[in-house]
Amino acid sequence: MMCPDRSHFLHPFTDEKALSQKDARVITRGKGIYIWDAKGRKLLDAMSGVACVNVGYGRQELIDAARTQLEELSFYSNFSGSSVVPAVNLADLLCEVTPPAINHFFFTNSGSEATDTVLRMVRRYWELAGQPQKKIIISCQNSIHGSTVFAAALGGTEEVRQRRDLPVTHTELIGQPYYFCYGNALAPELFGIRAALWLEQQILKSGPDKVAAFIGEPVQGGGGFIVPPASYWPEIQRICEKYDVLLVSDEVVCGFGRLGTWFGCGHFGFRPDLITFGKGVTSGYIPLGGVGVSDRVAESLIDRGGVFDHGFSCSGHPVACAVAIANIRLMQRDGLIRRVAEESGPFLRKRFLELKDHPLVGAIETCGMTAALVLVKNAQSGQLFDVDSKVGKLCRDICFDEGIVVQAAGSRMMIAPPLVISFAEIDEMIGLIKNGLDRTYHDLQKRNML
Ligand SMILES: Cc1ncc(COP(=O)(O)O)c(C=O)c1O
Repeated sequence: MMCPDRSHFLHPFTDEKALSQKDARVITRGKGIYIWDAKGRKLLDAMSGVACVNVGYGRQELIDAARTQLEELSFYSNFSGSSVVPAVNLADLLCEVTPPAINHFFFTNSGSEATDTVLRMVRRYWELAGQPQKKIIISCQNSIHGSTVFAAALGGTEEVRQRRDLPVTHTELIGQPYYFCYGNALAPELFGIRAALWLEQQILKSGPDKVAAFIGEPVQGGGGFIVPPASYWPEIQRICEKYDVLLVSDEVVCGFGRLGTWFGCGHFGFRPDLITFGKGVTSGYIPLGGVGVSDRVAESLIDRGGVFDHGFSCSGHPVACAVAIANIRLMQRDGLIRRVAEESGPFLRKRFLELKDHPLVGAIETCGMTAALVLVKNAQSGQLFDVDSKVGKLCRDICFDEGIVVQAAGSRMMIAPPLVISFAEIDEMIGLIKNGLDRTYHDLQKRNML
């Protein structure tokens, strides 16, 4: 089928010219962990959209919440002294599930806007603390914090940042806690400490009196579901406290149960000053993001900050907040987080680890309802493919052809299925991935790439 959207619709993160040579994949329906395209083909969505659809597609509770709220009050803003009931109720409910010190919430439409909101809050916080020169925000190589101008300046590699050439100052990148690539035969726990010390080195280089905050993803999501050693985050916390640097946990991917805890910081046992969230807060049913603010930061902004000169027309949109409430209530009612931690997460890990025997697989990592494997030229020697081999994309496309949606980050193949996935569906998913790996292997053999 020729895709009718091609004439006018510009897709995000897409080479439009390349897309015009083939059909776009038009998705028209979703139920549970499956989606269907316009040709009626059924696909197992092992990526939950883009790590959004935590409770699966087509949940009636969320649909009803949206409809009821649309009928009651379709929109009003929360600017300048007004509020809408669902925004107030959502903030109350979030206190039940976020870390104990996080008790105030600012709503945005997306994770990217949440990152920008963090910048505005952090700057204001240090101004009010009499240290306006504390402006630098440090993030990790290969992280993703969004696509607004500031958020984009925090993510990617140094090379990507240069290419983007964004008019943003006062940001610094440090190395990522990626053991498989940078572990250098150190014990993982030792590597975790070493990677955290890269933050200390950067703080000392920039000057502790100039560094405002460090932002990181508990598990680097879009970078390839890279799980840091357990020693990493506690050491990051120690360093932030030592130099009085605010600690920001980007929970846009890890939040709302993805790692088997409500938030990724809970999994790794650290206490952020601010958290950002998006995606899973509504299971992607409707756009919503936000920032959770710790008592330390909130007290300063509220008691001494005056007007916080920041917000969006749809901040705390009543329909989005009503859907988020229904989503969180559903997760609580069905014990989804506990299920990921104790049942489906361990089962996914057990089954995914079986792929380790495949001749294309060099390393495997799983955490909660996320998993990733590294494609290698030679599993015995661990020899990697060339950076520009595009082997990840090849495998992703073959998997799609097999009937499963996975994602590639370089040579890392990733999955993050809906948290509601059943054991039988995990079995089916592993079978499809295995078929995809087998076909990729034969394809690479034919191309003499092994
Ligand atoms: C960790 C992380 N933070 C922030 C964002 C940006 O969120 P959004 O696409 O909702 O703006 C993303 C997007 O993928 C992300 O992965």
